[in-house]
Amino acid sequence: MGRVVVQGGIPLRGAVGVSGSKNSALAILVAAALAESESVLENVPLHTDVRVLCAILRELGVSVTIDSQRRVHVNGAGLRTAVAPYDLVRRLRGSFYVAGLLLARLGQAEVPLPGGCAIGSRPVDFHLRGFQQLGAQVQVEHGYMKAVAPHLTGTRIYINRASVGTTVNLLLAASLAQGTTVLENAAKEPEIVDLSIYLNAMGARVRGAGTDVIRIDGVRRLRGAPYTIIPDRIEAGTFMMAAAITGGEVELQQVVPEHLRAPIVKLSEAGVQVTEGDSHLRVAAPTRLRAVDVETAVYPGFPTDLQQPFVALMGLAEGTSVVRETIFDARFGYVDELRRMGADIKVERDTAIVRGIPRYTGAPVQVTDLRAGAALMLAGLAAEGETELSGVEHLERGYEGFVAKLRTLGAQIQELPSTAGDDWSDAGRMLTPGVE
Ligand code: EPU
Repeated sequence: MGRVVVQGGIPLRGAVGVSGSKNSALAILVAAALAESESVLENVPLHTDVRVLCAILRELGVSVTIDSQRRVHVNGAGLRTAVAPYDLVRRLRGSFYVAGLLLARLGQAEVPLPGGCAIGSRPVDFHLRGFQQLGAQVQVEHGYMKAVAPHLTGTRIYINRASVGTTVNLLLAASLAQGTTVLENAAKEPEIVDLSIYLNAMGARVRGAGTDVIRIDGVRRLRGAPYTIIPDRIEAGTFMMAAAITGGEVELQQVVPEHLRAPIVKLSEAGVQVTEGDSHLRVAAPTRLRAVDVETAVYPGFPTDLQQPFVALMGLAEGTSVVRETIFDARFGYVDELRRMGADIKVERDTAIVRGIPRYTGAPVQVTDLRAGAALMLAGLAAEGETELSGVEHLERGYEGFVAKLRTLGAQIQELPSTAGDDWSDAGRMLTPGVE
């Protein structure tokens, strides 16, 4: 699916189930390969990013299969190859987690640097420094990180910024290191807690996940364990905003409302009615919302991954809202596309000043990254007339069955044949449920 046409102006109604967390699944799939016996993982979202990561693990010798009930079986017994393939690794940031895996299991790793992307420069210097502090010799050569560490040794590591990816990579590496590692200024995102619970189920000794300081007592080996991935809070937030922007009424099933505290507060301030159950949320929205200001922050602050859909929503609110992005340095690229739909948004450095207009008008727009795609889809759902989105493969990277789910809520979305070569089609075929 490369292009879709969205018919705007239909309020979304009904119920939709939220898939497992992308960012949890990416970390946990790699963690599963730390063990030389099988893990059976449930609630893994089978979108492109997960499929590409599974393909990378298989290239390294890890057995990864998906059964007919969409459970992913991972066994790291065959892990032999310490060189990760550039063509696959470059496709997603989370693939850099194989660096921690390879160092822990094989004592060496050659992994391409992930490079920048549409949301800003995304260096891995904190990851590399952390590996060095655990005793690895690390060099960057010919686009690859080359690291060697016959024995990783636990130590105290202060992470410069509470980086999610660094915390994941160091958790993976330290789990099999000799002695105790203390991660200070660790990320506190629910995905870090999920990974730590799973690692402990495998026999690791991780304490303090969800706080600034995580202690990892290294163990000699880990064993496979069954595990169910947490719901995707960003997908849930995106559907809440989709309901809100169309003035609809939607029940989200399989969610953890506590993981969505900041978005719930901001949506409520804007006039959205949010009713919380134990594992569901009901969202009902008036036809026009109030403008509210938002600043993205590390968890439990407002997630950067919901900044784009939130700006799309504020684009139609009554008044002016100020949205400040503090995590990534170039995450407003999609604003030009929103402007093509009539949005009145001015971007100054890290801040978008969003003056609400009564309606967007449908236009052809180009999706350049995952969450930008979510923002443009939301704008299209609310717009007058039709919006043609190109580059929909970006949405398929991180939202499982996004278009199908929107359709169950009443959205009218038509798929068009792709005009250019679809870079992602191979990845989609790499692992097919029930076949592999
Ligand atoms: N940073 C560095 N050096 C590093 C690592 C990070 O300077 O070595 C900087 C980044 O450039 C960024 C900030 O630190 O400015 C935070 O980056 P972080 O490492 O926390 O982000 P990440 O691990 O690269 C994950 C998610 C992102 C999510 C961020 C923030 C995965 C696979 N990705 O990225 O998810 O936005 O945390 O919560 O878990 C998405 O799902 O759309 C997405 C981009």
